[in-house]
Amino acid sequence: MDQQKIKILVLFYSLGGHTAKLAEYVAQGAREIPGVEAMVKQVPEILPAEFFADKPELKTVKESLTHIPTATLEDLTSADGVAFGTPVHFGSFASQLKQFIDQLSPVFIKGAMVGKPAAFFVSAGSVHGGEEAALISSMIPLLNLGMIPIGVPYPIQGESAEFDAGSPYGAIFVSGYKGDKEITSGDIKIAQILGKRLSAMAKIIKYGCEQFPECSFLSHKYE
Ligand SMILES: Cc1cc2nc3c(=O)[nH]c(=O)nc-3n(C[C@H](O)[C@H](O)[C@H](O)COP(=O)(O)O)c2cc1C
Repeated sequence: MDQQKIKILVLFYSLGGHTAKLAEYVAQGAREIPGVEAMVKQVPEILPAEFFADKPELKTVKESLTHIPTATLEDLTSADGVAFGTPVHFGSFASQLKQFIDQLSPVFIKGAMVGKPAAFFVSAGSVHGGEEAALISSMIPLLNLGMIPIGVPYPIQGESAEFDAGSPYGAIFVSGYKGDKEITSGDIKIAQILGKRLSAMAKIIKYGCEQFPECSFLSHKYE
């Protein structure tokens, strides 16, 4: 049995359920590394109840996600690596995720996320709707917190369906204009690879320092 335990948090916001779907595949991939416990959690909704009053489809989706717990700051700081997921909203990441991140000043001050790996995944309506911009913009605050971004480089993305899936910056699910596109096998493969790379890196950083003291420099305070 692998005694080297790792906690991975897959943290997402989803309005229409597509990012939530991708989150499960990222977690599946993360669990492929021995010793990994991967939790899937969501950030709190900040849209008012009135927003959903005349949108029964979205209300139904919201209700279908209530079994997924809402993340606390402790969930974040106790994780050895975190995957962040968001829908693309007007070419960037959703304000719900930003709202959660903007509560992290105490975490920032303590340096609690410094040296931990972070991965990113998005769902968008259209192929050129701003996926890469959203992935990269969501990295920026986490780089501020000292996290180390993990991508999916091209040699891993492979050929055929999976070559067109995801991006070097993270996993992607394009849900279509009507939001009715099915997630492809390529999307799933890239999301799983992203999760697995995240937990592999988290394990190396957490336990590799026992063998390679240089790696503890990643989370040291500068003197
Ligand atoms: C407020 C808002 C803004 C959006 N802006 C974009 C956009 O800029 N580009 C895009 O491709 N899709 C955009 N979409 C579509 C969503 O990104 C897409 O439906 C995605 O799959 C939703 O993910 P979710 O089901 O997890 O919420 C937008 C949707 C909303 C509600």
